[in-house]
Amino acid sequence: MNYLEFENGSRMPIMGLGTWKSAPGEVYKAVKMAVEMGYRHIDCASIYGNEKEIGKALSELMQEGVVRREDLWITSKLWNSNHGKDNVIPAIKQTLADLQLDYLDLYLIHWPVVFKHGVVNATRAEDYVSLKEQPIADTWHGMENAVKLGFTKNIGVSNFSVEKLIKLYRVAEIKPELNQVELHPYFQQNDLVEYCRNNKIHIMAYSPLGSSDRPAGLKKDNEPVLLEDRDIELIANRKNVSVAQIILAWISQLGVSVIPKSVNPERLKQNLLAANINLTEDEMQQMSALNKNRRYVDGKFGEVPGGPYTAANVWDE
Ligand code: A2P
Repeated sequence: MNYLEFENGSRMPIMGLGTWKSAPGEVYKAVKMAVEMGYRHIDCASIYGNEKEIGKALSELMQEGVVRREDLWITSKLWNSNHGKDNVIPAIKQTLADLQLDYLDLYLIHWPVVFKHGVVNATRAEDYVSLKEQPIADTWHGMENAVKLGFTKNIGVSNFSVEKLIKLYRVAEIKPELNQVELHPYFQQNDLVEYCRNNKIHIMAYSPLGSSDRPAGLKKDNEPVLLEDRDIELIANRKNVSVAQIILAWISQLGVSVIPKSVNPERLKQNLLAANINLTEDEMQQMSALNKNRRYVDGKFGEVPGGPYTAANVWDE
């Protein structure tokens, strides 16, 4: 397994398990199977609504001696309703209680989008707070406190554009170590990847397989289906592996961490093994040629009439 190194010496396994969309009832089994088969990196978030169940699985795995806490990498994320310096510590404490852990390895600001404190699902303009009223810098100071108090070893962000990273850099005492964003062959984010590389910010790729199990409200008609791509299939057939494995191998070979979600034993295994597949330079280039600049998670769900957020101002595009 390859690792990404952090400033303070932490080492994150490049291949992790995604848990977005893993329903309570199935995520317990998925986490247990995954850790038993060798996964050491689990990506969580309070908004996924399944941290308690993941906590039960982790606690059992540690009690059974399958894994030690220090050999696991656990990420979680601050939900939009908990922006603001003073809301971060109670939020991370709740996540730690749910996950039955004393500390996280990485805590991320989930979105550069603020909901009123207490509003979990914003649907009307008055549920939202603009970034002018509630600046990211203030939330970031809460994230820095979480490190100082020992609740997390590292902090970072998710869904941040280059512009927002530059702004954050100016005010951060502890620099963001990682940006978790959508990244796959159809949405390669080359400018963002280059900026992060030049500024020593790691990238973690979400929806690496195109997240075809997204809720209907986050889907569009006639979306291109990444896992049915004929060009990737040709490479996969040549190497006698699956399309998903080629995608995951390509992402990890770029030096980007990746968190495919699965609750199926066969696919969990496939995904874990993908980081060991070597693509030739030619194959890497064939994959790079597939970019369509096509997001699956387009950020439009934050757009409400009269509200402060649009997909354009979230992504700064
Ligand atoms: P399942 O959980 O039944 O395995 P993403 O990681 O981009 O969000 O994609 C997750 C979706 O891809 C889920 O529907 C998941 O289904 C499916 N999936 C995960 N791994 C594989 C794989 N190796 N081959 C095909 N589909 C996969």
